[in-house]
Amino acid sequence: MFVFNSRISRLSLAISLCAATGAALAAEAPPAFKACAGCHKIEAGAKLMGPSLFGVYGRKAASVADFAYSDAMKASGVTWDDAHLSSFIADPKTVLPGTKMVYAGLKKPDEVLAVIEFLKSLK
Ligand code: HEC
Repeated sequence: MFVFNSRISRLSLAISLCAATGAALAAEAPPAFKACAGCHKIEAGAKLMGPSLFGVYGRKAASVADFAYSDAMKASGVTWDDAHLSSFIADPKTVLPGTKMVYAGLKKPDEVLAVIEFLKSLK
């Protein structure tokens, strides 16, 4: 009985630790950022399928040195401000034909705004 109980309490400790970590992350990233997090890390230098989004706001497109961007992204000449981010995030393939970002786009304007606000905070 004692063993059984201590297993349960260890399990619930583990669960509450996970819940605490989850809450900390949720407070920073808006729910809509889940659509990006599968391909983008937010820590400097960390890449997944896409480049790290750390410091992306206000920076020139394709400027993470060791990331193999598409020619389209390299040639875009874009600086990631509100206007360029919101159009690209909403419909990457139409806005930048040839992009390697294989993502349909975030369609709800309020979610786009929330994601951009979050990107601004990554510095
Ligand atoms: C399926 C993977 C994938 C998803 C999902 C995705 N991205 Fe990307 N993203 C990429 C790739 C790959 C690139 C590089 C594109 C290129 O070189 O053409 C990229 C590039 C970018 C860039 C340009 C970065 C730079 O350094 O110039 C931004 C900004 C960006 N993504 C934001 C987002 C946001 C915000 C979301 C969520 C709404 C998102 N991405 C979802 C894969 C993804």
